[in-house]
Amino acid sequence: MAKPVQIEVWNPNGKYRVVSTKPMPGTRWINLLIQQDCRVEICTQNKTILSVEDIIALIGDKCDGVIGQLTEDWGDALFSALSKAGGKAFSNMAVGYNNVDVNAANRYGVAVGNTPGVLTETTAELAATLSVAAARRIVEADAFMRGGLYEGWLPHLFVGNLLKGQTVGVIGAGRIGSAYARMMVEGFKMNLIYYDLYQATRLEKFVTGMYFPFPAYSYGQFLKANGEQPVTWKRASSMDEVLREADVISLHPVLDKTTYHLVNKERLAVMKKEAILVNCSRGPVIDEVALVEHLKANPMFRVGLDVFEDEPYMKPGLADMKNAIVVPHIASASKWTREGMATLAALNVLGKIKGYPIWSNPNSVEAFLDENSPPPAACPSIVNAKAIGKSFTNVLVSTNSLSF
Ligand code: DGY
Repeated sequence: MAKPVQIEVWNPNGKYRVVSTKPMPGTRWINLLIQQDCRVEICTQNKTILSVEDIIALIGDKCDGVIGQLTEDWGDALFSALSKAGGKAFSNMAVGYNNVDVNAANRYGVAVGNTPGVLTETTAELAATLSVAAARRIVEADAFMRGGLYEGWLPHLFVGNLLKGQTVGVIGAGRIGSAYARMMVEGFKMNLIYYDLYQATRLEKFVTGMYFPFPAYSYGQFLKANGEQPVTWKRASSMDEVLREADVISLHPVLDKTTYHLVNKERLAVMKKEAILVNCSRGPVIDEVALVEHLKANPMFRVGLDVFEDEPYMKPGLADMKNAIVVPHIASASKWTREGMATLAALNVLGKIKGYPIWSNPNSVEAFLDENSPPPAACPSIVNAKAIGKSFTNVLVSTNSLSF
């Protein structure tokens, strides 16, 4: 028998019982659920990561839907408990859902939601921040200053890398990778090399292509017109080509069997000795033990990590490395994005409970985030819509295109 878990209840007489395994930023998500006759129960237990047993206790005997977190193990046990309690909807408050066994959800007919579109720019901004912080040794310099070690200006003090004119490499040029690439190209005038199974046409056009109608030009043309060296792009035919050629490399793949330890000892060896590696995707994409060894052997190689292989832990030795910047999985942590993620997750669950159709373009979610008008009667993003079938046949057509 699982122990009871502490909760906070909103709208106790609501018809549909929706559970959130964590308090989430903002109040709009709560209000939207209440307006649609939901009783909202928020777990307030002082425990960072809830166990499967904790969540089973939260689900209880009757539960219509759950909003959960990427730290939770959503597999057979939880989907079975949710289904037994009459639940048909679960949403991760995250775009990534490698913590969710979607096949298990399919078996129990539970819709699985995620929250793309709202965290693209925020996540790309953190990747850019880590890139610049690593290039200019900001964290080391800050510790030096606070440690009372600064005795005066010196020609060699914390000399780092100039990004302008160097090459930025992107592995996975989807939404976030492309937004990051644009920031580094436009902000620091870096040349781009990327690797992706799909051609990133819009990104390429942004760098050097010519947009129509005139007189709108690409960034490269703009620089040229201003007497500056134009930036360039290249689509690599292999990931190793990016690793070999780029000065700063940011990883943006999804985590699955094919991307586990994508960056390993051999691939680290291919990179330039003074390269910068940034990871805001998922920790296991890098072999962290090999990375620690590489950082030890190559003091000019730097890394900026938002995610870790055994999160929340770091592999032994990583915390001691001055050439590593480590932050606690905060890439999506801007107020606007986190409140938006909470809203999208709540609307995924609500939409399924109400039998709404699925929004056709999960990258274009502005209509759900506009605080001044009611959200569309739709589920913003359900990843297993096809597999769970019939109730999701009616698809809305949204009018906006991709954010870049
Ligand atoms: C996500 O949404 O997958 C992010 O990792 C959260 O920051």
